[in-house]
Amino acid sequence: MSMREKLDLLSQRRAESELGGGAERLKAQHDKGKLSARERLEVLLDEGSFVELDRFVTHRSSDFGLDKSKPYGDGVVTGYGKIHGRLVYVFSQDFTVFGGSLSEAHAGKICKVMDLAVQNGAPVIGLNDSGGARIQEGVVSLGGYADIFLRNTMASGVVPQISAILGPCAGGAVYSPAITDFVYMVRGTSYMFVTGPNVVKTVTHEDVTMEQLGGADTHGGTSGVSHFTAGTELECLEGIRTLMRFIPSNNVDAAPKGVAVDPRDRRDEALLDVVPDNANKPYDIHDVIRRVVDDGEILEVQKDFAGNIVCAFAHLGGHSVGIVANQPAVLAGVLDINASMKAARFIRFCDAFNIPIVTFEDVPGFLPGVTQEHGGIIKHGAKLLYAYCEATVPKLTVITRKAYGGAYDVMSSKHIRSDVNLAWPTAEIAVMGPKGAVEILFKKEIAEAKDPQAAMDARVAEYTDKFANPYVAAARGYVDDIIDPRDTRPRLIDALDMLQGKRQSMPRKKHGNIPL
Ligand code: HXC
Repeated sequence: MSMREKLDLLSQRRAESELGGGAERLKAQHDKGKLSARERLEVLLDEGSFVELDRFVTHRSSDFGLDKSKPYGDGVVTGYGKIHGRLVYVFSQDFTVFGGSLSEAHAGKICKVMDLAVQNGAPVIGLNDSGGARIQEGVVSLGGYADIFLRNTMASGVVPQISAILGPCAGGAVYSPAITDFVYMVRGTSYMFVTGPNVVKTVTHEDVTMEQLGGADTHGGTSGVSHFTAGTELECLEGIRTLMRFIPSNNVDAAPKGVAVDPRDRRDEALLDVVPDNANKPYDIHDVIRRVVDDGEILEVQKDFAGNIVCAFAHLGGHSVGIVANQPAVLAGVLDINASMKAARFIRFCDAFNIPIVTFEDVPGFLPGVTQEHGGIIKHGAKLLYAYCEATVPKLTVITRKAYGGAYDVMSSKHIRSDVNLAWPTAEIAVMGPKGAVEILFKKEIAEAKDPQAAMDARVAEYTDKFANPYVAAARGYVDDIIDPRDTRPRLIDALDMLQGKRQSMPRKKHGNIPL
């Protein structure tokens, strides 16, 4: 064969490798409202940047008639490309080929890009759409999954790992996305569960649909397994591109700078009136966050889960930051099991990837109740405490109102190595709220008083005057300054600039033992 003839053969085979499971299966995929594996990569990556690897890989099985069909690529498209000009490694499972099921060869392709990502310090983005282990291959396929799980674990904290679930993800297959840093799901077309509705029916006699059991809203709002919920695949893939604007490529690099033109010294008049005069009235912490960050832009993580705490990426004076904020508008901003777990994981991501943490604090304490205690609020709340304690990135705290009890310590207090702690004049830093404190301290006195209400009011006023303010903490240096709320943005940006060179290390150890 001449060179030209060989090139013709190559083009023919390359074209064949792009057919996936054929036109009919592709149509079925589109009819379900889903894009093909390659179409997804076109949306995800910068135009023309995708370079495919292993397009000619085929499976090596012959059982159950598999020898009759050996499609190129074996159900997964892998390679690398760019997002906003930055290198990322990708794999995109092709449901049109054996239902995207994972064979030994398919797993090998995924492992290859994961190894390259860790070696070269770039994120791995997995687009999952698979019927799970290739049933015909048996244990070889299970081994392939385990090879991926191990790599997920080794890569954790080294390069960001992002999973989009764009179809089925069932059985043990769920544990790869679960180890990754961020899970995206799409309403109506993606679902994750360890066992599906039929097995659930057999074992527990519960009737449940796929969507109810493991759909996007279930994992976005109830289980907390996923971090971002999209209405369409396009929205989901665009969402991953947005996330990349806030996170670095690896644990050594800095996060990309924001490009907003928001003046660094911008004061915000409206911040004067956000916190109501009545300490028991709620307000929306988003009104504070948006007025402080660059261009009011935030990317909220787990938006529909544990709304009593807000976790979000933003830029502040161009610095990428992770924001953790109690939300007085939901359950008064109390810390419960879900809020603790949500924020702890977010803080650990930020710490692993050099993203400073900015905490807005207005917290009445931990949520009381049998459900919380029996559910393990002690160990789950400890996760949040542990995550803040161990984080060595720059940590800034703004106390807008309540900083009560154990929650005061936990929410990035000075005592656990926060760098710059600022309080608004509305801050109340105390063991508990005035009414609760007075009811405990002066129970007898109030009960015996001629006018119990008047006695109560007097003691509440005394306690409020003494403790429900930031000055006692400031006198000890537990807050570095009490500031005009309007200056919050310039003060935080100034602190971030000042902390650019922060170096803090942990004692030598194999790893800590975070309460799980
Ligand atoms: C081999 C598979 C497959 C699999 C689907 N296919 N899943 N082939 N191994 N795991 C094939 C089907 O035979 C079919 O081929 C094609 O893919 C499309 O599948 P359909 O069933 O027609 O599609 P749909 O109706 O959309 O249903 C999708 C599905 C269903 C819900 C995912 O296919 C399904 O239940 N598959 C099995 C899921 C499962 O039990 N997997 C193992 C889980 S345990 P043809 O040629 O007919 O079109 C697991 C362990 C991981 O994964 C362990 C890690 C530790």
